[in-house]
This record gives sequence, structure tokens and C-alpha cells, in this order.
Amino acid sequence: MSKIVFATGNPNKISEVNDLLAGHFEVLGLTDIGCPLDLPETSPTIPENALQKARYVYENYSVDCFSEDTGLEIEALGGEPGVFSARYAGEGKNAEDNMNLVLRKMEGETNRKARFYTVIALILDGKEHLFEGIAEGTIRNERSGTAGFGYDPIFQPDGFGVTFAELTKAEKNAISHRGKAVRKLIDFLASLNN
Ligand code: IMP
Repeated sequence: MSKIVFATGNPNKISEVNDLLAGHFEVLGLTDIGCPLDLPETSPTIPENALQKARYVYENYSVDCFSEDTGLEIEALGGEPGVFSARYAGEGKNAEDNMNLVLRKMEGETNRKARFYTVIALILDGKEHLFEGIAEGTIRNERSGTAGFGYDPIFQPDGFGVTFAELTKAEKNAISHRGKAVRKLIDFLASLNN
């Protein structure tokens, strides 16, 4: 089976993506190639952040790799937290603090529309490829559920009466931003082998 490096230090992302890529590719992590887990992500947009992380690994370790960057975009907050999703409430990158800040800013707001936006950046033989995935939904008034990670307890995907944090990993992967982007990545990689 072909090997590919997933350039992320986030164990939750590795867990979701490993499930999706199982049987297609053997996924290596940053520790497998001796790369520090905290990759630079200082770019102004999600696609550029994804590319920045993949380029860092490709340039320093000369391996085919992909990275991903995700943001929660809330319509009533003008797209916030967006590219600042990880450190919305501060450099501590604390999910509870981030959710509290979102819930506070959304107090009394009737437009609850939001979406998760993921971009995967793949670098293969030096060539860059981008794959997007979007999950539309709404921001709940309070947390619900304990599965998943990040903003999952306050995000209700459209067409569901529960939050991402009330779905199993398989159920979330089937409809999520990351699941959609990873399936595009798999289709692309599979098309190269035909
Ligand atoms: P990054 O892509 O690692 O920079 O993550 C951005 C922020 O969005 C972090 O706070 C993550 O916890 C959060 N995040 C990323 N993916 C998801 C998801 O699938 N569900 C909920 N929160 C997420």
C-alpha cells in the first residue's frame, strides 16, 4: 500500500482521516518522519494555511504529504472565527474557551447560520493540489454532546436535529467538511493509479 504523510499534530484529525483512508493508503504522522508537531500556520486564509503546512513538510523532509486547515465561519459574525478558529479566544487554543466566546458573541442573534470549511493541500512530486469540503449548519444556543472535538458540541449540521458531538465518528465523517475533502483527495489519488 502506498504511504503518505499527513502533516498535522492534531490527533483528532488523524483519527478521522485514518478511518477514511483505511484500505487506500498507509498514513504516516509527523512523528514518523521526525518533524515537530506544531507546524507554522500564520497565513491570512485557510487555503494558504493548508499550503503553508504542507510546503513546510515537503521542503524540510522531502516527502509527499498532505495537510489540512479548517475554519468555522459564522455568518452573523462576518465569517468569524474563520482562519482564527484555533486561537479565537487566545493562544491557549482551548476548545471550551473558543466555544464560550462564540456563544457569548451569538447571544440574542437570530441568524445562526454557520459552516465548517476545510482545505486539504496535497504535495505530490512537488506539485500542489487543493481539495475543499464544506458542511453547512447552525450554531446552537448551548453545547450538546461529548463526541468529536473543537466546536463540535455547538455545531448542528443542516438536516440533523443533533450536533456533530452527538454523532459517531463514522456518521460525522459521512457528512462533514473534512470527510468531503478527504473523499476528493482519495478520488484524486486513486485516479493516478488507473
Ligand atoms: P486547525 O485547522 O487545526 O487550525 O483548526 C481550527 C480550529 O477549528 C481548531 O480550534 C479546531 O479544534 C477546530 N476544528 C477543526 N476541525 C473541526 C471539526 O471537525 N469540528 C469542530 N471543530 C473543528
